[in-house]
Amino acid sequence: MVPTADNFDVVVVGGGPGGYAAALYGAAAGLNVAMVEKDKVGGTCLHRGCIPAKELLETASVFRSVASADRYGVNVGEATLDFSTTMARKQQVVDQLHKGLSGLVKSRKISVFEGTGTLGADRTVTVTGADGDTAELTGRHVVLAAGSVARTIPGFDVDGTVVLTSDEVFELTELPGRVAVIGGGAIGCEFASMMADLGSQVTVLEALPQILPGVDKDVVAVVLRAFKGRNIDVRTGVEVEGHDPREGGTTVRFGDGETLDVDAVIVSVGRRPWSDTLGLDGTGVKVDDRGFIAVDEWCRTAEDGVWAVGDVIATPGLAHVGFAEAILVIKQILGEPAVPVDYAKVAWCIYCHPEVAFAGYSEQAAVEAGYEVVTSKHRWTGNSRALIVGETEGLVKVIAEKQPDGTGGRVLGVHMAGPWVTEQLGQGYLAVNWEATVDEVAHFIQPHPSLSENFGETFLSLTGRGLHG
Ligand code: NAI
Repeated sequence: MVPTADNFDVVVVGGGPGGYAAALYGAAAGLNVAMVEKDKVGGTCLHRGCIPAKELLETASVFRSVASADRYGVNVGEATLDFSTTMARKQQVVDQLHKGLSGLVKSRKISVFEGTGTLGADRTVTVTGADGDTAELTGRHVVLAAGSVARTIPGFDVDGTVVLTSDEVFELTELPGRVAVIGGGAIGCEFASMMADLGSQVTVLEALPQILPGVDKDVVAVVLRAFKGRNIDVRTGVEVEGHDPREGGTTVRFGDGETLDVDAVIVSVGRRPWSDTLGLDGTGVKVDDRGFIAVDEWCRTAEDGVWAVGDVIATPGLAHVGFAEAILVIKQILGEPAVPVDYAKVAWCIYCHPEVAFAGYSEQAAVEAGYEVVTSKHRWTGNSRALIVGETEGLVKVIAEKQPDGTGGRVLGVHMAGPWVTEQLGQGYLAVNWEATVDEVAHFIQPHPSLSENFGETFLSLTGRGLHG
């Protein structure tokens, strides 16, 4: 044990998006910050999540483009995949971002401690390194940002070759021929889409009646139709019973006595908070029965000066939500005015093909919440740019509060599926969060020709007068 404690304004436990955002934002404001990380700064998002997943989805996109290049008169012969180059490029992107992030942390003079941080009384964090050495840090404030790990299901022991979670998919050395994806959430749909595009035969097994639970039904219908067109077999409302491993693969048992022979199973049934290693002995920090650290809307735990952000609290498990929570906490530490995160209106982006992006209420959720709504839907088929880029699947859907005269008032939700919608959501996100009205948004001009015109057209038609449809 190092005898003297190092004192900091803020000690951050965890170097993923929630933790590093707290450290970077705090250090940028002149705070003396320590960050404890047992693996690599960047966390799940950079090393085993968002970034490698989107990089592999980009490979899938390139593969699709090349395979259909002859539509444009560009003849390149048959597209083939060199999976080792695919994985090497994925790693190159991750490594470059890791280097950039590490450099940023260093340049902001954040003290990084390698090891596992446990919180004790009086905001003392004990760091235990891989070699067993310990150091003790104290913070005027402590931010817990320990993140989450992939959940598994009983009977599916992860072995890294046949039974995989997202962690292991990024380490594959060859693409499995036949894959069962258990769980049709964001991770399941992204992997299903990517692997099918690269040539695997994919079956999605989802327990609920709908894949992408919580997503607007019109948007889910677009994804389902597109998946079907690419021979992805989506089975909803099926319980997975277990599996019988055999040489080089396994047979998954599910539903009413059905079986499926596959080379690999990807278990994507959600993530659980990683609060177990945080200690918390002698502190007032409370953990709920699912393992999430209990916080109020200000990300305060029950212990004075101890905050928690990111996947370790029960808020949407999204890197950008972690960023927002980190900023919220640091502003409060600085004594600046702060506004809690409005979780019902955060941006959701799912990078399967076709992409899905939304903010605010789906039509179903708005009605359930008691709103009378009007909606408008515009498909990409009538959009010039979508036709040019050859991506006409999907739609933009706007949900607005119904006014007494029957027209659309406040914008409640913007939901999209189709080309580059993850990049297009920005103005929908602003409309929802600024509580703009239909008329206000319809007033703005969209460039022509552009994909974003479809957003404008959807609003124009809600005013009762569309231009192109
Ligand atoms: P999820 O909770 O979004 O989806 C899991 C799915 O698995 C659900 O549809 C659930 O009904 C199903 N399921 C659970 N147990 C099952 C079983 N035994 N058999 C069949 N189906 C079962 O979790 P997911 O997709 O693993 O993602 C984890 C977290 O990561 C989420 O918070 C998600 O928002 C986040 N994430 C976000 C992404 C994005 O926004 N692009 C991408 C990847 C992850």
